[in-house]
Amino acid sequence: MSHVSLRCESCGAAHPSNMDILGCHGCGCPLDVEYTAAGPSVPIAGYDVRMPFHEPAATLSLGEGNTPVVELSKIGEALGIKRLDVKLEFMNPTGSYKDRGTAVMLSVARELGIREIVEDSSGNAGASVSAYAARSGIKAHIFAPASAPAAKLKQIRVYGAEVHAIEGSRDDTTDAAIAFYKRNGLVYASHAWSPFFFEGTKTFAFEVARRYGGEPPSHVVFPVGNGGLFLGAWRGFSELLDDGRIGRMPRLHAVQAANAMPITARSRGGGWSQADAQPTIAGGISVAAPARGGQVVDVLRRANGTAVAVAETEIASMQKALARDEGIFAEPTSAAALAGIHHLAAEGVIAPGDSVLAPITGFGLKDEVRFDVEG
Ligand SMILES: Cc1ncc(COP(=O)(O)O)c(C=O)c1O
Ligand SMILES: [Zn+2]
Repeated sequence: MSHVSLRCESCGAAHPSNMDILGCHGCGCPLDVEYTAAGPSVPIAGYDVRMPFHEPAATLSLGEGNTPVVELSKIGEALGIKRLDVKLEFMNPTGSYKDRGTAVMLSVARELGIREIVEDSSGNAGASVSAYAARSGIKAHIFAPASAPAAKLKQIRVYGAEVHAIEGSRDDTTDAAIAFYKRNGLVYASHAWSPFFFEGTKTFAFEVARRYGGEPPSHVVFPVGNGGLFLGAWRGFSELLDDGRIGRMPRLHAVQAANAMPITARSRGGGWSQADAQPTIAGGISVAAPARGGQVVDVLRRANGTAVAVAETEIASMQKALARDEGIFAEPTSAAALAGIHHLAAEGVIAPGDSVLAPITGFGLKDEVRFDVEG
């Protein structure tokens, strides 16, 4: 018997654990893993962490997780914050945080005997899924915007996945992937939908809890497109809180590009529609219609978080400041989170004496450099 059930986050309906079910049979909303019986756990940062697969010894790993935390003293001082740390998620095996989620999602896929999968991505999730698929002998079809950075498309091809480059927006890429998996009767291993992906990204929270001796920083600030790391971290911190491993939930904030800000608009009550979306240099958060948008807004409320939107120029100058002042070469998408801290401080959400942590979600060489390197 499985120790896992998939629970609808909206109407509460329970579904059996497999990768054929995407949304709730009743209302179509996304599903989350729920543990209904004792099952396997794996050691993460010294904690026993429950996982949705059945054979921990047979799971897939490329050594993801255990990323370092470093302090940004100059940028922290410039932002007027006493303690600003970043967790270098680009030190995961394919250069982005996605590997945490992929490792668990593809462990489940392998256990279920799945041989061929479809995923859509701005590039990083595609590269991550391609790597773990290669390792497990699964064929991967990766749908990505034709305009995705050349380095990311190349990385996907290097691992031997089939790239389907789609003209149009990031959301057009999702539509094409969905049409393809349905037409061909394949499994949609979507990092935006799959409940198993979020069971992998929850490991971020356990590492943070351990790193800070059970007292996480007051604020954790994420770049949010679909909310893969944001929602996973929430799940992890919630488990830690329920088990009495941390004393309080850190406030979890979401940063979006002003050019693609559905969650920010929804959580702040501002008018914004998909038709208002513009291209952004932060390609990882260029998501106008996030699958779990309602869930992210709900978690923002529960985690006492705030969503902010940043301008393109702010993202570019933060990419430069991270490199020039701190020696950190981040993707523009990752720099967006740091740019958002400025807004959160200006709005008084973050006070000068507070401690703040942000993930640097992707490595700079994967994307374009958005500032003048001669300047
Ligand atoms: C580097 C980087 N950071 C952040 C994100 C945003 O992740 P999510 O869409 O899961 O919120 C992405 C997504 O592609 C990314 O590539
Ligand atoms: Zn439902």
